[in-house]
Amino acid sequence: MNDVTLTDRIRHRTAHISIIGQGYVGLPLAVEFARAGFTVSGIDSDLDRVGGLNAGRSYTPDVASHDLAAVVADGRYEATADFDAVAKSDVVIICVPTPLRKSKDPDISFVMRAAEAAALRFRPDQLVVLESTTYPGTTEELLLPLFEARGAVLGTNFFLAFSPERIDPGNARFKVRTIPKLVGGVTPPCTALAALLYRQIVDWVIEVSSPKVAELAKLYENVFRNVNIALANEFAMMCRRLGVSAREVIDAAATKPFGFMPFYPGPGIGGHCIAVDPFYLSWKMRLNGYEARFIHLADEVNASMPAYVVDLVADALNRRQRCLNGAKVLVLGVAYKRGVADTRESPALDIVARLQDKGADVSYADPYVPSITIDGHVLKAVELSDEVLAAADCVVVATDHPDVDYARIVDLAPLVVDTRSATHGMVAPAGRIVGF
Ligand SMILES: NC(=O)c1ccc[n+]([C@@H]2O[C@H](COP(=O)([O-])OP(=O)(O)OC[C@H]3O[C@@H](n4cnc5c(N)ncnc54)[C@H](O)[C@@H]3O)[C@@H](O)[C@H]2O)c1
Repeated sequence: MNDVTLTDRIRHRTAHISIIGQGYVGLPLAVEFARAGFTVSGIDSDLDRVGGLNAGRSYTPDVASHDLAAVVADGRYEATADFDAVAKSDVVIICVPTPLRKSKDPDISFVMRAAEAAALRFRPDQLVVLESTTYPGTTEELLLPLFEARGAVLGTNFFLAFSPERIDPGNARFKVRTIPKLVGGVTPPCTALAALLYRQIVDWVIEVSSPKVAELAKLYENVFRNVNIALANEFAMMCRRLGVSAREVIDAAATKPFGFMPFYPGPGIGGHCIAVDPFYLSWKMRLNGYEARFIHLADEVNASMPAYVVDLVADALNRRQRCLNGAKVLVLGVAYKRGVADTRESPALDIVARLQDKGADVSYADPYVPSITIDGHVLKAVELSDEVLAAADCVVVATDHPDVDYARIVDLAPLVVDTRSATHGMVAPAGRIVGF
């Protein structure tokens, strides 16, 4: 039987793997498979990215450039824009973006383009795994027919599964090997084969009964986070009205050793997971005649946070007889989260735009992000010098990057609006720090 051959090739790590999409998800996965002994083609449509990767230049904190250079040098990894690599592959993994359209409906076009290109080059005895976060049903409803139309026979010469990626870019503790991996195949042999594949590089692989379960599990994880962040954000607004620190209350509640998990308020949510994925589910549910209420309420609360932060800045300046119009405001951190350079959907960008709209003279500092574009205008990062801090009327901590001396900021800046609790516990003259 053909699948025995494929099983053996996976088990002996002689299988050739194509990973379509060499982004934050696809690249760490490709390098991990290559380090485990597989030969990997990293397919990406971005030629600059392909060139950089083949030159051993990583752009994600999860892959060290020297590790990438090593697998390139020993021939285990090659980046390419040529989809023909799929035709010689035993395994094809799809890790392309799943963004939203302006209407907040899923934009599945990247997945479709990648899957069509792979299906066109289908060769018998292939395992195909979709990793991109998507709505329930994508694997079976969209991918399966594409491959079947090219002669693939499920369970005989073709195996298909969904395995959601859970990587957390910049997280030093949990990486590809240590993040448990869910696998749901279209048939039990599909699940078994995909699980065998991931067991070569991941310590704990969990098999579920179908792709739909795996697709939904990923969405539930991100809806859970989104909703709980929204709850923390609303809680922070309520605490402010009561004159209490939300941070102190949440930390107090978190001393309960069971049944509670702390989430903290912030300036809103960003990145291309938590802010995006819930809409994949709400869209699918709408097609099923159901409105996902928690998802919409959470989005409403989270989306209101940048405006709330700007109000905090205006109020704090007002208390100092300054008005926002004309004030020098320094936004500290514009990436969507600490320790990364990614500004996709970052609420800090919305805060900058809103401050500018109100007439503030806005600059920003971020050791990870050299420039940003707001309403078509490029803004370059400034050096976080003593002079810049002292000259600002207000510093807004929008992202709490590591390796920033927040005590120094509190010392030098006349006013700090801290949306990330980066200054939590610091002592400062009354009214200098405004936060949650
Ligand atoms: N970034 C994360 O933290 C994270 C975590 C878990 C899951 N995910 C999910 O994983 C998927 C990929 O996310 P990402 O962050 O790696 O995206 P990314 O934007 O970092 O990378 C995607 C890559 O795919 C390439 N690409 C796009 N269309 C292509 C095509 N048709 N053919 C070949 N290459 C193509 C792009 O050039 C890019 O290099 C998404 O569904 C995302 O929701 C992301």
